[in-house]
Amino acid sequence: MAYVIGAACVDVMDRSCMDECPVDCIYEGQRKLYINPAECIDCGACEPACPVSAISSDRKVPAGQALFADDNARFFDLPLPGRAEAIGAPGGAAETGTIGVDTELVSGYEAAG
Ligand code: F3S
Ligand code: F3S
Repeated sequence: MAYVIGAACVDVMDRSCMDECPVDCIYEGQRKLYINPAECIDCGACEPACPVSAISSDRKVPAGQALFADDNARFFDLPLPGRAEAIGAPGGAAETGTIGVDTELVSGYEAAG
């Protein structure tokens, strides 16, 4: 079980969530951040920190956000565009720094309205 970041984070990237995560498992793409499901300890500390309510438990993903829940895992499990290998579980965002690349879902995402 893990927490996931949804569409509301795209192009907002407030980053307050990163400060709350005790295991540093929130990684930064180009337009959005992603929670590593293999490293998240399901503590819930990040959820109230987000000013746009982009974070939820994967057991309570809001309507229309299921695509983004799966996409959090995809960011780590499959090679990102332009990369040969998947990120996997690198042990913390402080180790990797900004990843700077998004999944195809996020890089092509256009907010409704
Ligand atoms: Fe981190 Fe806990 Fe959220 S482990 S990603 S702060 S649920
Ligand atoms: Fe994004 Fe909210 Fe974190 S906007 S970076 S999920 S605090």
